[in-house]
Amino acid sequence: MKELVMSREEIEEACIRIGTSLNERLKNEERLPVFICVMKGAMNFMSDLIKHIESDILVDYIKISSYEGDKTSGHITLKQDISINLDSRSVVIVEDIIDTGLSMKYLIDHIKEKYSPKQIIVATLLDKACERKIRVQIDYVGKTLNENKFVVGYGLDYKELHRNNPYIYVPTKEEVEKMDIEVAK
Ligand code: IMP
Ligand code: MG
Repeated sequence: MKELVMSREEIEEACIRIGTSLNERLKNEERLPVFICVMKGAMNFMSDLIKHIESDILVDYIKISSYEGDKTSGHITLKQDISINLDSRSVVIVEDIIDTGLSMKYLIDHIKEKYSPKQIIVATLLDKACERKIRVQIDYVGKTLNENKFVVGYGLDYKELHRNNPYIYVPTKEEVEKMDIEVAK
């Protein structure tokens, strides 16, 4: 039996809840707000979340990497930068999961260094609050995990696998071994 972390229904409920709050918060914007998807993990969350946004928005993405297999390396590399000018705009960073917090801190610092946004809002589907190494801004959370479990599905991967699962779960040891064989092929 798979250990389910978030079902399709729970994910949809989180998208509706966060989307509704964001609609309220982004009511009176002078410049179009920008939703930034943190690739690749947040791709599914971003896609489902923005379906609930009622005002006009711009979308962009940024690609960073910190994880090696199932461990965070602590060293963040920028692979693909944002292309929209974020000056005076509300910026919503859409992330799959916040673990140590190092990636989110990197993203916020990076945006603040390059632009002068009106505000930065952070929305994450999952929050591994127990694993935090540094204090980081989070405005919206889909679900908080109180145990350090490595999870996959709905954008989250193990060695690039399982991003296409419609729900989020903890892979078994056997599944991880199978994935290791698969990627080595
Ligand atoms: P942090 O920098 O330690 O907060 O790590 C955040 C990034 O690591 C997330 O954006 C994910 O891409 C990845 N990550 C953290 N925990 C998991 C997990 O359980 N499964 C898959 N990816 C994870
Ligand atoms: Mg991510």
